[in-house]
Amino acid sequence: MAKVKIAVLVSGGGSNLQALLDAERCGELTDGKIELVLSNRADAYALHRAQNAGVCAKVVERKQFASVAEFESVLLAELQSHEIEMVILAGFMCILSSAFTARFPGRMINIHPSLIPAFCGKGFYGLHVHQAALQRGVKLTGATVHYVNEVPDGGEILLQKAVEVREGDTPESLQRRVMEQAEWILLPQAAQMVCRRILSQKA
Ligand code: GRF
Repeated sequence: MAKVKIAVLVSGGGSNLQALLDAERCGELTDGKIELVLSNRADAYALHRAQNAGVCAKVVERKQFASVAEFESVLLAELQSHEIEMVILAGFMCILSSAFTARFPGRMINIHPSLIPAFCGKGFYGLHVHQAALQRGVKLTGATVHYVNEVPDGGEILLQKAVEVREGDTPESLQRRVMEQAEWILLPQAAQMVCRRILSQKA
């Protein structure tokens, strides 16, 4: 059966990558195959997760290149050499240029740990997002999977899931609950949705 070739771009722990690998293994991500993991950090634990799952994992660090354009051209060459058809940003901490995102229209998605349009855009990453939600005193937060375009966290929304904020939450406890109750569920679902759509467009 034909499957969409997926690359996952990571920078850190890779728990969302793990959710995708688990979904593929359990038969929840039936229409896609994770072929490649690219990290912009050599010390990302996500690289071990890829290796443990037998997925090709490579490091492409921004600092190795003089310009964003050079960095992105190497990323693109890696994607092309694996014939990647869909890109998933799973905690990838680099903002990609419009020239790059335009290469994958409707084929690049990102997971963001809030209910967009709240707490998103430039500066809202990692624990900062949860810190801002707690400071504002929201009672509900959550996660969003969206298509990626040239605006950070600005592409069309695919899926969202709300998560309750609890009395006494810290940014860390809230981050953990948002991951467990939303991110690790939503991202594989969204990946499957997009792969299904890509396959149907090919047929
Ligand atoms: C997640 O919270 C994701 O939403 C955000 O970065 C974090 C990455 O975590 N974009 P992990 O590397 O998947 O564990």
